[in-house]
Amino acid sequence: MKTSTLSVILCFLAGIFVNAVSIDKRQSRGSLQQVTGWTPNPTNVGMYVYIPNNLASSPGLILAIHYCQGSAQAYYTGSPYAQLAEEYGFIVIYPNSPHSGSCWDVSSEATLTHNGGGDSNSIANMVGYAVSTWGVNSAKVYVTGSSSGAMMTNVLSATYPELFKAASVYSGVPAGCFVSSTNQVDAWNSTCALGDQIDTPAQWGNVVRAMYAGYSGARPKMLIWHGTADTTLYPQNYFETMKQWTNVFGYNYNAPESLQVNDPQSEYNTTTYGPNVVGVYAQGVGHTVPIHGTQDMEWFGFA
Ligand SMILES: *[C@@H]1O[C@H](CO)[C@@H](O)[C@H](O)[C@H]1NC(C)=O
Ligand SMILES: *[C@@H]1O[C@H](CO)[C@@H](O)[C@H](O)[C@H]1NC(C)=O
Repeated sequence: MKTSTLSVILCFLAGIFVNAVSIDKRQSRGSLQQVTGWTPNPTNVGMYVYIPNNLASSPGLILAIHYCQGSAQAYYTGSPYAQLAEEYGFIVIYPNSPHSGSCWDVSSEATLTHNGGGDSNSIANMVGYAVSTWGVNSAKVYVTGSSSGAMMTNVLSATYPELFKAASVYSGVPAGCFVSSTNQVDAWNSTCALGDQIDTPAQWGNVVRAMYAGYSGARPKMLIWHGTADTTLYPQNYFETMKQWTNVFGYNYNAPESLQVNDPQSEYNTTTYGPNVVGVYAQGVGHTVPIHGTQDMEWFGFA
């Protein structure tokens, strides 16, 4: 082999090495990347990130949280947030459940308490990591999820209200509704799932306030989606969740500001209590309410 050929090969290999190091440091853009080595991560939640090619300066951040049997990868491909990130320039983080069956722990005392060391704590810590590592604007942080991810969205909104400006909840249950009376991690709660846990707005509001006792700052505004034909997390959970957040924001649950029929589409009703609590109830829709990216972008203030 000629010396010149050898040096070309060596330069080529050195180039790959340098590239690999720099990509690892800044996270490559336009694809789903696993993030390792971030701390503290008390329950070993996985962290995946999508940084758009079209990254805004001082970008926003959406946490997009998957359903049971789902994964960060599945929610990345099955939800519109990565495409919307290219349009609006925000970053998306997809947490990945550490539990078998890949539901989220929304039942233990740890996860239902601010800085309690549960899944919610691990996910909340991703926000600080994103702010310090990628320059995320901490005033533009949002959370959304479906099913178990929707339950976690309500839990995060209750336990870390200081982190989030707004939340969009697809087919969940009220924060604290899935609590385990025996403090089990990642437990199923049939009473709640079946819509049999019926409380007053004040009772549900107290559950939220107890999750971060003494907190009196701002809280994320809540957009709640649910289908009338949900046989996994029964539709009563829509009404219980609305009771909860209207109470937290001081609205009268029995006196919404407006009801828009066939909004944002045919067979969907939008009930507005005020700027901080809006519910969308979808006639004939089952457990999977399709993610409404356009409405979420408006709710989060990107559009
Ligand atoms: C289910 O949740 C309710 C609160 O929503 C709670 O009172 C009940 O004890 C829980 N059930 C179990 C089996 O832990
Ligand atoms: C929407 O509101 C109309 C008018 O009150 C009502 O007839 C219909 O049942 C509602 N649909 C849902 C899904 O709540």
